[in-house]
Amino acid sequence: MGARVIGIGAALPERVVTNDDLAATMDTSDSWIRERTGIHERRIGSSTSVLAIESARAAMEMAGVHSEDIGLLILSTSTPDKCMPATASEVSAELNLTCGGFDINAACAGFAYGFIVASSMMKSPTGPKRLLLIGADSLSNIIDWTDRSTAILFADGGGAVVLEYTNADTLLGWDCATDGKYASILYCDHGSTVVMEGREVFKVAVRAVADSIATTLEKADIRASDVDVLLPHQANIRIIEAVCKRTGIDFAKSFNVIAHTGNNSSATIPLSMTKAHESGVLLPGSIVVMTGFGAGMTWATTVVRW
Ligand code: UT7
Repeated sequence: MGARVIGIGAALPERVVTNDDLAATMDTSDSWIRERTGIHERRIGSSTSVLAIESARAAMEMAGVHSEDIGLLILSTSTPDKCMPATASEVSAELNLTCGGFDINAACAGFAYGFIVASSMMKSPTGPKRLLLIGADSLSNIIDWTDRSTAILFADGGGAVVLEYTNADTLLGWDCATDGKYASILYCDHGSTVVMEGREVFKVAVRAVADSIATTLEKADIRASDVDVLLPHQANIRIIEAVCKRTGIDFAKSFNVIAHTGNNSSATIPLSMTKAHESGVLLPGSIVVMTGFGAGMTWATTVVRW
């Protein structure tokens, strides 16, 4: 028993902010940002609910499902539009959903966490037959636009999938973790802006994500060389390169959008999935690894047979 993806959707704000735009207002440069992160430009200027709704509509259209077909809504975000109600509430109203819905916050690992929660709920005999899983974040609202250590990285975006119940075993393995002793290296207080010790986050992320992938592949009894598609969190292209090197997954199997999207947290994995879908590599039977990490620090990995 499991869940399979039948629809994928993406949403990005219209406004493009290039590295040169940032270099005009702070002490940085296009070449430094490209070399150290892989980012060329990012999109900013929207709300989490707007991005969630737009990406969900696209995913539902691809899946050919209507509001009444959706049995549960899970929305991953660490930038909800309000403290309460959950952003899922507004999204649900706009999409005319009648099912249950809730937000989860596992920072940038949220979509991978959400995929594990969604798949597990769909395996329940009374679980939903179709589920909408959204990852959306509007980080531009919590960035200090004079702080070059964060302003160059974070951006806005949304991505969504429609999952359908299947008799096939699709989620072959998963792993998730939270290590609160690293909470102080990446956080945002209420009403404030993101604070990050980038170099520390980088080091923890490479080690934790590589270990998490190795553990999950072992649980799933899959070799790194058998991975067809890697959908990694888009925080820094150098992190993805380092993780591939450590795990033995061919970097060419990773689908990366960071050059044009920056790091939009919960949205990065579904945006990477959109690129993989457009490239025609998400075929029945493909072995697909999703992996995310973020504030907490949190991390999560799934190994899925497509
Ligand atoms: O979603 C998860 C969240 N976050 C992450 O995954 C972030 C992980 N960390 C990173 O991506 C990287 O650590 C950064 C991109 C944030 C920084 O790159 P780095 O290679 O770790 O740079 P650094 O902080 O070690 O700084 C190297 C140098 C320093 O100058 P000195 O001391 O060598 O003279 C910095 O002051 O680069 C300088 N620097 C910059 N220069 C131009 C730091 N930020 C910038 C900048 N532009 N934006």
